[in-house]
Amino acid sequence: MANDLPIPIPDLTGKVAIVTGGHTGLGFGTSIELAKHGARVYIASRSASKFNDAKRDILAEYPEANVRFLSLNLADLGSVKTAAERFLEQESNLHLLVNNAGVMCVPYEETVDGFEMQIAVNYIGHFLFTKLLLPVIQQAAESSDIGAVRIVNVSSDGHAKLAPKEGILFSDINMKDNFSVWARYGHSKLANVLHSRELAKRYPDILSVSVHPGTVKTNLSTGPVSSTPLYRFIKPLVELCAPGPRKGAANILFAATSPSLKPELHNGAYLLPVGKISAASKAGSDLKMASELWEWTEKALADREFM
Ligand SMILES: NC(=O)c1ccc[n+]([C@@H]2O[C@H](COP(=O)([O-])OP(=O)(O)OC[C@H]3O[C@@H](n4cnc5c(N)ncnc54)[C@H](OP(=O)(O)O)[C@@H]3O)[C@@H](O)[C@H]2O)c1
Repeated sequence: MANDLPIPIPDLTGKVAIVTGGHTGLGFGTSIELAKHGARVYIASRSASKFNDAKRDILAEYPEANVRFLSLNLADLGSVKTAAERFLEQESNLHLLVNNAGVMCVPYEETVDGFEMQIAVNYIGHFLFTKLLLPVIQQAAESSDIGAVRIVNVSSDGHAKLAPKEGILFSDINMKDNFSVWARYGHSKLANVLHSRELAKRYPDILSVSVHPGTVKTNLSTGPVSSTPLYRFIKPLVELCAPGPRKGAANILFAATSPSLKPELHNGAYLLPVGKISAASKAGSDLKMASELWEWTEKALADREFM
């Protein structure tokens, strides 16, 4: 797992970070670099044993690393609430929240809370997690340099290519009938982009951005997606050209740490690799839709007594 990151990462001593899905893939590539640069990193994961494997690998490379486990299943809002509560018991500041965990192209399934799996894990679980952590993120922002405290949503260029053209389908959020697994994935990733836009508007002291990490070789492409015709078509290209998760984490790390990002210029931005401020899709740039999605999500969570 060679590391030849194309970006410098500043010293993060004293910073506290959470990376969801931080034990593997892009999350691992992000966690290890944040820890190597001095941050205390909570790896939020649904598997303690996978966390232990990741911790072993991180310590092997950087024995001083401070990495901790936070149990989190984004497909279960009860688990999300408990994870946030556990974190709040341990820390009073959170400087970097990297909402990275995700699923792609999983067959239609509903979570215990009644949401389709991709929108649930990729967006709704992260929305609740972020909302519950905002008090300690704001607390960190009050005592940090401007722009140092950040929320990074790991989206995808699929938000533009795969989501329904009209954007978020508020009256059919699960997209159960007449939609492909790809369309549901793109829809959930569009929600990530809009979430960052609205966070930026509501919490201007926190720098919130969304990123497309690029096409990166991770477990994502060995899951259900590997059997779809579209993926079978692009697979040889991915195998040949895509970087692994250490190098592939560069855009996430840029978004989380680069001093060149400024809240007054870049809050709510969407970044292509590496560090390129880019236009999101038409729907992903729709501030009215971002606001509606926030309100829709708060109501959906309130209906289930999570807010
Ligand atoms: N790789 C790419 O080319 C690419 C391109 C665009 C966007 N992305 C985005 O990048 C992010 C990271 O993906 P990756 O490529 O690194 O894939 P990955 O290796 O499959 O990692 C996905 C992570 O999400 C976690 N996760 C899945 N379901 C979860 C749940 N219910 N609760 C908590 N954690 C859960 C997984 O944990 P388990 O190990 O327990 O399953 C894993 O740690 C995703 O948001 C993805 O959409 C990736």
